[in-house]
Amino acid sequence: MKEEQKSILVIYHSQSGTMERMAHRFAQGAAREENIRVVLKKAELAEVEDLLQCHAVAIGSPEYFGTMAGMIKDFFDRTYTAAQERTIGLPFVVFVCAGNDGRGALTQIERIAQGYKWQKVLEHFRVVGEPTEAELIDLEELGHTLAAGLDFGIFP
Ligand SMILES: Cc1cc2nc3c(=O)[nH]c(=O)nc-3n(C[C@H](O)[C@H](O)[C@H](O)COP(=O)(O)O)c2cc1C
Repeated sequence: MKEEQKSILVIYHSQSGTMERMAHRFAQGAAREENIRVVLKKAELAEVEDLLQCHAVAIGSPEYFGTMAGMIKDFFDRTYTAAQERTIGLPFVVFVCAGNDGRGALTQIERIAQGYKWQKVLEHFRVVGEPTEAELIDLEELGHTLAAGLDFGIFP
């Protein structure tokens, strides 16, 4: 059974630090909503239980070779069978960083999320190049919006 307090799982991968910074800022924004617990984990350390316990999931991935980071894909590979039937309708949002594109990673994550039948509740977020402070503030705002939506029951 899920805990009563609603929670957001933020999973990410980062090789050289850009997505790590972005994921922390997203989580900081989400944590501004006092009633919502934020669980921030590198994808390689996240387990299927984390997914089953959360009320919304945010996925942060760099684009590598035109798609998501391998460790994000690995998280999906490891959790799909157990989580597929039990996370239908889970609100999700994706944020990506990329050297020059990022749309491949976004598209692939969206396709996988469709497989889980998760619910897209907010526009996904894409940063090309080094994130500016303005983009990081927008990302914090995205985290806060997800958390506030959960808190107020806007997202089921
Ligand atoms: C192995 C590798 C492959 C990459 N492939 C792409 C790519 O296909 N498209 C793109 O826009 N950027 C690509 N990049 C750039 C990264 O997406 C970008 O530097 C990102 O900010 C890295 O995030 P990180 O610091 O969190 O690892 C690649 C970087 C690496 C290391």
